[in-house]
Amino acid sequence: MKISKIKVKIKETRYPIIIGNGAINYLKQQIKSVCPKTKKVALILDKNIPNKQKKRIKSQLKSYSIYTKEYLPTENLKSFSKINSLAESLLEKNFNRNDTVVAAGGGIIGDFAGFAASILKRGINFINVPSTLLSQVDSSVGGKTGINSRRGKNLIGSFYQPKSVIAELSFLKSLPRRELVCGFAEILKYSLIRDKKFFKWIKKNSRIILEGKNNVVLRDAIVRSCKNKIYFVAADEKEAGKRMLLNFGHTFAHAIEAASNFSKKINHGEAVLIGMLLATKLSVRKKICSNLTLKEIEKIYKTNNLPSILTKYFKKKDFNKIVNYMSNDKKNNDSKINLILLKKIGKTTNPGEIKMSLHQMKSVIKKIS
Ligand SMILES: NC(=O)c1ccc[n+]([C@@H]2O[C@H](COP(=O)([O-])OP(=O)(O)OC[C@H]3O[C@@H](n4cnc5c(N)ncnc54)[C@H](O)[C@@H]3O)[C@@H](O)[C@H]2O)c1
Repeated sequence: MKISKIKVKIKETRYPIIIGNGAINYLKQQIKSVCPKTKKVALILDKNIPNKQKKRIKSQLKSYSIYTKEYLPTENLKSFSKINSLAESLLEKNFNRNDTVVAAGGGIIGDFAGFAASILKRGINFINVPSTLLSQVDSSVGGKTGINSRRGKNLIGSFYQPKSVIAELSFLKSLPRRELVCGFAEILKYSLIRDKKFFKWIKKNSRIILEGKNNVVLRDAIVRSCKNKIYFVAADEKEAGKRMLLNFGHTFAHAIEAASNFSKKINHGEAVLIGMLLATKLSVRKKICSNLTLKEIEKIYKTNNLPSILTKYFKKKDFNKIVNYMSNDKKNNDSKINLILLKKIGKTTNPGEIKMSLHQMKSVIKKIS
């Protein structure tokens, strides 16, 4: 199959995203061309990548002195103590700025290894090999790296662009459906906030994407998603304006995850799907968006049996807890809840345009869920 290459241009930084079945065969060549002085490679691996695929990654690194660390990714990995022990072992092995950290895994591994690379000797080469649909369409694009704090997720981190991103489609074949749903939520988000044509394409292909088997459809979904994300990141790398539109549905989602104590009952992508629907219903109530648009979106949820109803996960009496978490969102800059709402497919409100008080949100959430 044809391998797609996207060129990312963010201010003075440029790097490729290589997407396709067989993209992993470009790893060796990429290190040679974008990190030519590399002698040592630190391979930070996700334990859940199948062995056969791990071998394919390692066989690309044969000409380097390779140091491998494997982790079972949980949010606890994204901590200072784990970063410290990785950094100490890389320093002990004399890693320097010419050497390269390669992350192969989902968003947890990418965020963790990217952050380590960004602070080791004030920044050593970083190549990301995302292995989940979410990491291929979202977390590997845009240069956010980070770890968690006791006070919340992703509160400590850096903006650090990789030297290259390699999205191998065959890695997706071993993903459980729930992980495909997580990636799908972000794919759908890009279409809703910016890309009406992409939305029409998703309407036709949603079932195929969620089956995770058809490489051509998966490649196209990933390419179109990455291009949309790059548009926002290039316009606003440090998230001072436009990039905030990527937060569509996420103010609800983060609060839903926090109110369920980040339990496995509901994962991030499921919360995003519910959050985007709540944001659209709120848009209809505020007469910003038509009911027809809402119905069109809901149809995709119904066809694919996607999570859509808050009451499936929470009792109505717990809704206030969700709203309280919404008011703590790190993207609020005053006591009000900042929201991105939908005007029509492909068009949202602007950042800062819609703000609601805790009281207003507590009353409305019961009506839209
Ligand atoms: N940096 C950013 O811009 C950004 C954006 C969105 C999300 N994130 C972060 O990304 C993380 C979520 O990423 P995720 O959804 O990829 O989750 P994840 O990293 O937890 O991976 C999901 C699961 O899939 C497994 N896995 C990975 N590759 C696999 C494969 N090929 N086959 C089978 N199993 C595989 C993992 O081991 C894990 O159990 C969160 O920590 C979130 O904060 C970061």
